[in-house]
Amino acid sequence: MTFERISEELREKAGGDAQAFSFYLFDRPLYDVARDRSDAGDALCEKYGECLERYLSGEPLQYIFGYTPFYDLLINCRPGVLIPRYDTEALVEEAVKTLPSGALFCDMCCGSGCIAAAVLKHRPDTRAVCCDISDTALELTRENLLKYGLEDRAEIIRFDVFGDWSVLPRVDAILCNPPYINAADMEKLPENVRREPREALYGGVDGLDFYRRVIKASDGVFRGTAHIIFEIGYDQGAALKRLSPYDCEIKKDLSGNDRVCILRG
Ligand SMILES: C[S@@+](CC[C@H](N)C(=O)[O-])C[C@H]1O[C@@H](n2cnc3c(N)ncnc32)[C@H](O)[C@@H]1O
Repeated sequence: MTFERISEELREKAGGDAQAFSFYLFDRPLYDVARDRSDAGDALCEKYGECLERYLSGEPLQYIFGYTPFYDLLINCRPGVLIPRYDTEALVEEAVKTLPSGALFCDMCCGSGCIAAAVLKHRPDTRAVCCDISDTALELTRENLLKYGLEDRAEIIRFDVFGDWSVLPRVDAILCNPPYINAADMEKLPENVRREPREALYGGVDGLDFYRRVIKASDGVFRGTAHIIFEIGYDQGAALKRLSPYDCEIKKDLSGNDRVCILRG
């Protein structure tokens, strides 16, 4: 099969994902593949066929190929752990700019460890405590920190947000992208998002369970005054302002949606 034919099929079957698919598989942009009339060879065609089949069954590209770009890193991904989204880069950007010098921060609900890895890389003066309830997520966090040589500056702890907070060390700030999808929206998730773990997405009936819990339970965990940087859903800014006892600032993501909530008190 020629590259040109593969490109046609990709555009037909993968639509808006065709470009990313081409990059993942061939490390070449789609327009380049489209102009190549040479044969792709048996091994590559076989791999292409397998990947396309998995994609057409609804599996996300990031699970098929095992990584995703995030901030300026390539974060390893695998089934059972949420795929990092570019929305979350707004939280990283805020943390990189505002964490105090020498800060110990907690990446609460760390998932793949994407937040901790990006912040530790860009703020070499900081250290992290990475927490999640999922062992698969904690293993992946370790892998991603090792990938960038950051493991010596992070402690990884299995931790339940709704459990005992006295096991945590005292920190200067909490960075947290918790599960925040409400019950009604969980019913409308597209097929590829349904392949991601439900416990990484569902934030209770109104989507706010984790925010309430982290705000309440973190009292006493800070070395100084409270400093929490949350990722929020585009429509949750007003609710966060209502439920927080702290000063609350909301910042927008690249699409102009409310995305980051900064609490200080
Ligand atoms: C929205 S994902 C965020 C992952 C990662 N920080 C990111 O931004 O891509 C939420 C994470 O919360 C974890 N989680 C769910 N329930 C939890 C709980 N009760 N305690 C701690 N972590 C929990 C999930 O395992 C998942 O990794």
